[in-house]
Amino acid sequence: MITASAPGKVYLFGEHAVVYGEPAVPCAIERRATVAVEERSDGRLRVEAEDLSLDGFTVEYGETAGESPDVDVSPDLVEAAVGYVDAAVAQAREAADAPEAGLDITIESEIPLGAGLGSSAAVTVAGIAAATRELGVELATTEVAERAYRAEHEVQEGQASRADTFCSATGGAVRVEGENCRSIDAPDLPFVIGFDGGAGNTGRLVSGVRELRERYPFAADTVGTVGDLVRQGERALVEGNVEELGTLMDFNHGLLSALGVSSRSLDRMVWAARDAGAYGAKLTGAGGGGCIVALDPTDETETALRFTPGCEEGFRAALDDQGVRVE
Ligand code: PMV
Repeated sequence: MITASAPGKVYLFGEHAVVYGEPAVPCAIERRATVAVEERSDGRLRVEAEDLSLDGFTVEYGETAGESPDVDVSPDLVEAAVGYVDAAVAQAREAADAPEAGLDITIESEIPLGAGLGSSAAVTVAGIAAATRELGVELATTEVAERAYRAEHEVQEGQASRADTFCSATGGAVRVEGENCRSIDAPDLPFVIGFDGGAGNTGRLVSGVRELRERYPFAADTVGTVGDLVRQGERALVEGNVEELGTLMDFNHGLLSALGVSSRSLDRMVWAARDAGAYGAKLTGAGGGGCIVALDPTDETETALRFTPGCEEGFRAALDDQGVRVE
């Protein structure tokens, strides 16, 4: 049996704008998804999710077309989670040239699902790394990232940037612009995360921004301004200027808000962090609900978030410079 883990991520800057070719800077955080894989001889797949920050489930199914998993939790939930696992398995089987391989897969994750912290990318990355190794092939990190991107791209019907999967595979802070992905030297950033317990609909939010951008030239300018801000932010990151990063995060949140992807609970958590003295705060990921990220080396923001109406969980999550790893 092989076990691999991979980190979740926050967007320091640039979500949504990255869809239109602007740069973005996601950063891996010390919250991981862990996937254990064991080959089985009967060609079947068994997926067990013990803890995905929601109810666990177990699915066992073969390769017969139309055979559906036999489970007793919400089909939507299982379909979403199993979709990523299936796509990861397909990538691993292809990489290992073992199209018929049966696998027992066990998933545990500390990353809330669909909340802007890259849980699906972390499961996909860790799953591909563990499954290929179990099947006797060791992939380079860049190939794990590429295959995880292809898996997400397929499951999300073309609506995926390389940001989540590349960041989860390599760890640390990364810069993503179209197909170009690279690591950036970054200081240890004092991330604090607020989670409202919900999730946004990424597809709908991305379409909303696209419509605004087509309807109003100033909305297109806003997307371009996010790109300018990211370029400025990269310099602040390399210099380790946390105060400047905070100011730019506040600005980025305002622009995302103007593009219609914030929500009352996200705004509330952002303001709680600012009032508590954070350097800056913004929503992370697609928005609409889910998580905010703030920079605060003290305990003030974490404490304030715990008392903020609508915030279900406030926690610290350091930048994780380790990407995917075999445990
Ligand atoms: O919510 P997340 O972590 O899946 O991030 C979505 C980020 C977007 O820029 C809105 C879409 C994308 O694929 O880059």
